[in-house]
Amino acid sequence: MKVGFYQFVPEFGNVEKNIQTMVNAVKAADADLIVFPELATSGYLFLEQKEVADTASAVPGPMSDDFSKVAVEKNTAVVVGFPEKADGVYYNSALIATPDGKVQVYRKNHLYNEEKLFFKPGNLGFPTFDVKGIKVGVLICFDHMFPESARTLALEGVQIVCHPANLVLPGFAQITSCSRALENGVFWILANRHGTENRKGRCLSYSGLSRIVDNRGKVLASAGADDTGFYGVEIDPAKALDKKVAPLADLFADRRPELYNEITK
Ligand code: ACM
Repeated sequence: MKVGFYQFVPEFGNVEKNIQTMVNAVKAADADLIVFPELATSGYLFLEQKEVADTASAVPGPMSDDFSKVAVEKNTAVVVGFPEKADGVYYNSALIATPDGKVQVYRKNHLYNEEKLFFKPGNLGFPTFDVKGIKVGVLICFDHMFPESARTLALEGVQIVCHPANLVLPGFAQITSCSRALENGVFWILANRHGTENRKGRCLSYSGLSRIVDNRGKVLASAGADDTGFYGVEIDPAKALDKKVAPLADLFADRRPELYNEITK
């Protein structure tokens, strides 16, 4: 299976242009699964609720139709972060459009900082998705700082974690992408954005350095801090089903849930 990410600079508020950039990237890429950053249709640095409302999309809707169409045409699964409007409220969500024509969503469970002013926390738990017979999960940015998130997905049998992000904390996700992949024996695709958003005196810089990590924590592909483009590698997701790290040492069978406080049982 060929998996990849597309790192770029979404233009704040220009939903049409950002969608077109991503659809073109899918058309140009050769992959079974492509991950784009968090809030990639809208940009990140919202200053007021109206900006969220003006850039949000419902699923299904015209935005998800665009990604579904190209996912079917290219026989590729596509993961895209976007502001979602559902039942009169807003979520920081990611859609997954699969080659069978389905579009499903994950809603970010751990909102970061001022996101809490604009979005509701996710209400869908940690769903899993089928991509060509492979079990895939999605976490969005700050979710990576909560090991229970990746553990929950891994215990559900997820082989690949897709991680759309808009990283502002220096180097944290480059550490956790390796440690979460290693401790759970899963592949990890971190799709970050880069560039700076300057909005009415507020400024945020995003760190790039997207990467693909294998089930033993080894980096297979990585982008630079300011690179725009598609990066892909061939992986064997079946390796993520084997949790043994030595003949008598198994990441899952050796767990002692009866000893753990609060951690997923
Ligand atoms: C983040 O969760 N976007 C830092």
